[in-house]
Amino acid sequence: MSIEVRRLDVHDLDGVETIERASYPTPWSRSMFVAELRKPSALALGAYADTEELVAYAFASRYVDAWHVMNVAVAPEFRRRGIATLLLERLFEVTAGDQRRGYTLEVRVSNHDAIRLYEKLGFEARGIRRGYYTDNREDALIMWREAVPADAERARSEAT
Ligand SMILES: CC(C)(COP(=O)(O)OP(=O)(O)OC[C@H]1O[C@@H](n2cnc3c(N)ncnc32)[C@H](O)[C@@H]1OP(=O)(O)O)[C@@H](O)C(=O)NCCC(=O)NCCS
Repeated sequence: MSIEVRRLDVHDLDGVETIERASYPTPWSRSMFVAELRKPSALALGAYADTEELVAYAFASRYVDAWHVMNVAVAPEFRRRGIATLLLERLFEVTAGDQRRGYTLEVRVSNHDAIRLYEKLGFEARGIRRGYYTDNREDALIMWREAVPADAERARSEAT
């Protein structure tokens, strides 16, 4: 199976909704996805198996000082194959010319799998938003990644 990453468009929303409902207790509605896709500040990437079937997506939004990663989900049967990693690495590549902005996100404190994924990609915990999730009042962990993470910066300066 090959995985191709490309920009999402509105024709992908049926697939997005199916993955979203299988991934979250309080899924985004279709109108939330439509609104995101229409924003000039939004970046939405999809991962497609064998160039056709949507199996994962990542939505990010550009703010003054950071890209906010709003939503990342992988269809359950395609998890643990590096697809979320691939999508987020592509997000970093696409936005790499933008040295002024780092990356931030919120994640449920109980979502250890996602926290592990983000840590592997260079995100660090930066704080807690108490009771952020309205369904169960769970806290959110705020994570931050520099535009160029410290490890990459160190490797680059050692190489030059
Ligand atoms: C979290 C999620 C996006 C990960 O997607 P994925 O494609 O399976 O992630 P990857 O295969 O790229 O995993 C990268 C690393 O993250 C960690 N990780 C991801 N899923 C994990 C799991 N189920 N258990 C333990 N570690 C996990 C591992 O360290 C993994 O590396 P490894 O497989 O070499 O050990 C996916 O499980 C998902 O869609 N979950 C539901 C939605 C969600 O919680 N999104 C994040 C909201 S902030």
